[in-house]
Amino acid sequence: MDDLSPETVTDAALAQMATTRDPRLREVMASLVRHLHDFARDVKLTPDEWLAAIGFLTRVGQACTPTRQEFILLSDVLGLSALVNLVHDAEAPELGTTSSMLGPFYREDAPEVPLGGSIVADPDGKEMLLYGRVTDTKGNGVPGALVQVWQTNAEGWYDLQVAGGAATDMRGNIRCDADGCYHLRTVRPIGYSIPLDGPVGELVRRQDRHGCRPAHIHFLIGAPGFRELVTALYLSDDPHIDSDTVFGVSRTLVVSPVENDPAAPVRGIPSIRYDFRLARESGPGSNRVGADPKQILAVS
Ligand code: BEZ
Ligand code: FE
Repeated sequence: MDDLSPETVTDAALAQMATTRDPRLREVMASLVRHLHDFARDVKLTPDEWLAAIGFLTRVGQACTPTRQEFILLSDVLGLSALVNLVHDAEAPELGTTSSMLGPFYREDAPEVPLGGSIVADPDGKEMLLYGRVTDTKGNGVPGALVQVWQTNAEGWYDLQVAGGAATDMRGNIRCDADGCYHLRTVRPIGYSIPLDGPVGELVRRQDRHGCRPAHIHFLIGAPGFRELVTALYLSDDPHIDSDTVFGVSRTLVVSPVENDPAAPVRGIPSIRYDFRLARESGPGSNRVGADPKQILAVS
């Protein structure tokens, strides 16, 4: 047996893992070990740094609860969630609307809102209209597509962050009409800070990053036979539009409310028109880069 060196330990680990029967697990773990070892050699990782990283990851795990997923937040601030979305979009057989991460504030049980209804319990003066069409990649409307929408209120809070999530507000599920058209009323959201009171926040502060997301509205759109689309629209005039802490913004998702749009189905309030394109379903698996933290605890 030869003594291991910083170079040969990688091949030794790969050789031992080569017995893995599941081919995808074998491929993923081999690549992970190669990159992890390259990283440790590259930065000359010290034992103290290794232990600090173990301590950090332990605190990330301890911060996870049925309502909080600190590991997803870590993935978000490292740009990994955005990367997984970008790879997923690039591998679609057709080009649909760009994805953006689900985020921690999605709820399965949002109320049904009729076409043209409001997702806001108590709208203030800054009402806005969202309207457009859900189409396939050839531009044909998708009749009856379900558009799930959620956002912050005008103070930058999701309903889940107010009074322990006691009331449902600023979210709703709208069914498109027979041409795939939707419209709904809301208020202008504002940008907000991601949760910074845990170990991920500690890291973001040590990196002197602002920790903010630009103002946005989340969408999860689905219809039978189509890939589920998880995305968001971002308001162009937000000061953090070019420096989203979780890298969710793409140019094609940036919008500006328009005053007096003659095509808007409701007049008198600013409107945003956005047409969403759904790609055809191409196999099993979800397009959600994110999940209800309760479900993650249940499967682990
Ligand atoms: C959000 O947009 O809701 C979000 C996404 C990632 C991290 C924190 C918040
Ligand atoms: Fe959000």
